Amino acid sequence: MEKKIAVIRGDGIGPEIVGQALKVLDAVAVKYGHRFIYEDVLMGGAAIDAYGDPLPPEMLSKCRRSDSVLLGAVGGPKWNDVPGDKRPEKGLLRLRAGLEVFSNNRPAKIWKQLANASPLKPAIVEKGIDFIIVRELTGGIYFGEHKTESVNGEQVSTDILKYSESEIARIGRIGFETAAKRRKKLCSVEKSNVLDSSRLWKKVMHKLAEEYPEVELSDMLVDNCAMQIVKDPSQFDVIVTENMFGDILSDEASMITGSIGMIPSSSLGSGTCGLYEPIHGSAPDIAGQDIANPIGTILAAAMMLRFSFDMPKEADDIENAVSKTLDLGFRTGDIMPKGENGLTLCGCSKMGEEIIKNIG
Ligand code: IPM
Ligand code: MG
Repeated sequence: MEKKIAVIRGDGIGPEIVGQALKVLDAVAVKYGHRFIYEDVLMGGAAIDAYGDPLPPEMLSKCRRSDSVLLGAVGGPKWNDVPGDKRPEKGLLRLRAGLEVFSNNRPAKIWKQLANASPLKPAIVEKGIDFIIVRELTGGIYFGEHKTESVNGEQVSTDILKYSESEIARIGRIGFETAAKRRKKLCSVEKSNVLDSSRLWKKVMHKLAEEYPEVELSDMLVDNCAMQIVKDPSQFDVIVTENMFGDILSDEASMITGSIGMIPSSSLGSGTCGLYEPIHGSAPDIAGQDIANPIGTILAAAMMLRFSFDMPKEADDIENAVSKTLDLGFRTGDIMPKGENGLTLCGCSKMGEEIIKNIG
């Protein structure tokens, strides 16, 4: 099969981790006789430097014309002082909106090899951690009006959190359908004790539940959910939540599995063209040192094969190769336990090479 992939290497560690993911994709292409054609796209800080715009229209068009987009990470201190609507992150938000990828899927799963990298007590980890956060990605406070104005001699800022019934229902359906294919438990997370948008969220979820009798729906307030994720993560199968709550909870969920560096994500809309990225940021403090963990991005590439290209065997191969590499004891710094342990500390490119050896 031939697939055109828009590649956004991004800022900070982005180019290093994406480089490894492309090598892994190349190994898969050779093994299965596929052709992956990469088209480089600038977005984020790199695009600000080149064009003065974090996502120039022609860059978005290139992404929209591709079969899917693979992204490293964007942002960094260099662009901290640019105005809000020109920040690197704004490029990412405009890309998500432009691709209409409203559904973001972030798995939190403990790798057996990394159980001791989790900051949770073994008694909690042993009960199992395997859940997915389905995060609404193109609405809510991220996309409401943002403004800062002067009122009575002081600055006043406003960010609007707005959701329509149809926006809630379309992500709700993804939540129910995801749960239906798994352990059939859906937890809808909101703040309905305070926010109108959350009360509407809850109402829409309960209405939808009538269409999915096989799925058990529960509600949880977001503050309680943040607590339950560290208290007993084994209770969760699928969490569905709005944009900002999903952003926050997915960082928390990733950490309990050992490292944010391990977690991929997929973002899809109504078609097959998706956006695939690790959930971590551009980590400017370790950029250019070849020490970043490329596994989140490599697993994001596997998700792309599974969800956008209908290549489940190829995706399994990548995930199994990652697992085998961990079995063999290779660890980047973020997943390396302290002390003498018989494991091999390795950098970003070495980790990529070892994973490729296990693609077979
Ligand atoms: C994420 C990131 C982004 C977000 C930032 C970089 C805009 O934190 O993908 O979780 O908040 O969505
Ligand atoms: Mg985030």
